[in-house]
Amino acid sequence: MAILVTGGLGYIGSHTVVELLNSGFEVVIVDDMSNSEKFILENIELVSGKKPVFYPFDLKRRELLSQLLDAHDIEGCINFAAFKAVGESQQKPIDYYENNLFSLINLLQEFKERNLSNFIFSSSCTVYGQADQMPIKETTPLKTPESSYGKTKQMGEEILMDFARAHERKVTLLRYFNPIGAHPSARLGELPIGVPNNLVPFVTQTAAGIREKLMVYGNDYPTPDGTAIRDYIYVVDLAKAHVAALQKLIQDSRPSVIDIYNLGTGTGSSVLEVVHAFESANSIKVPYEITERRAGDITAAYADASKAEAELNWKAQTSLETALQTTWQWQKYLESRG
Ligand code: WQD
Repeated sequence: MAILVTGGLGYIGSHTVVELLNSGFEVVIVDDMSNSEKFILENIELVSGKKPVFYPFDLKRRELLSQLLDAHDIEGCINFAAFKAVGESQQKPIDYYENNLFSLINLLQEFKERNLSNFIFSSSCTVYGQADQMPIKETTPLKTPESSYGKTKQMGEEILMDFARAHERKVTLLRYFNPIGAHPSARLGELPIGVPNNLVPFVTQTAAGIREKLMVYGNDYPTPDGTAIRDYIYVVDLAKAHVAALQKLIQDSRPSVIDIYNLGTGTGSSVLEVVHAFESANSIKVPYEITERRAGDITAAYADASKAEAELNWKAQTSLETALQTTWQWQKYLESRG
């Protein structure tokens, strides 16, 4: 029996594949390589000592997915495969709906016809929009996301809940807060493709001299230091939550399951707190300039992660400073590769 990991060469996907292999699962990766590079597969083997099966195709090619499922005894799926750049999704909404939803629907059509279950979906705290109260619980009302990317996540959740109900299957929705950091081996991390949208890769590239300075998007928010607050969760802690969620789902004897978990640390950090933590963790300066707010940004988002702690026996263990040290080590590894 194997676990199908779609987008398994991506940032969170690759770290989750390592934790699955470390926990004794067989893994089959499918990844279209649109947001990854082949050396990530080699480094998964280097780090875990095991070699997952790998298929380099696009999940919109349903006939290729069907051939894969004919060839492997799949016990469950963790679905990371999606375009995920918030800003880009505003420029190319139809590409985002096509890619993120067609690939999901192909997977579910095949799961339906083959009576497969145990489906874990990579969702996002963006489905909450600007929540009215902090910390954010799984029962916090959803709002219409600002971005088309966020809308594909919210639609994906709806599609999966209908799938679980109509066909008596087991589904878990994992709502990530802000994933950061890299594997402690410094051989896996977030690949810098283009100008980083997210804060931590931009901070890291600024420290490395690749970017001249960090633009801090607004310091006029109603927060202690005026900059926006997020819940930055270390990527390996996040990966371990996927293994815990999968193990629980497989063991769940209910025919139809829809579980939802917020995956965050439960602690909010402001942009300037992240910058200063990076500087002290790595003894390096990060030049920055305060600029206007970024359109679509919210003031604050951090998780109430107590449900995952109670039901998955999982809690984020890694400090912001440690996570920021790993991202710097990863940056130095990338530079050493040339
Ligand atoms: C964090 C904070 C910015 C860059 C998004 C998606 C979410 C998930 C994570 C995929 C904000 C500020 C950022 C910069 C800055 N993505 N910032 N200067 O927007 O919270 O979440 O990425 O799953 O779904 O919504 O993350 O890292 O872009 O921003 O000041 O150069 O850093 O304004 O306050 P965000 P982010």
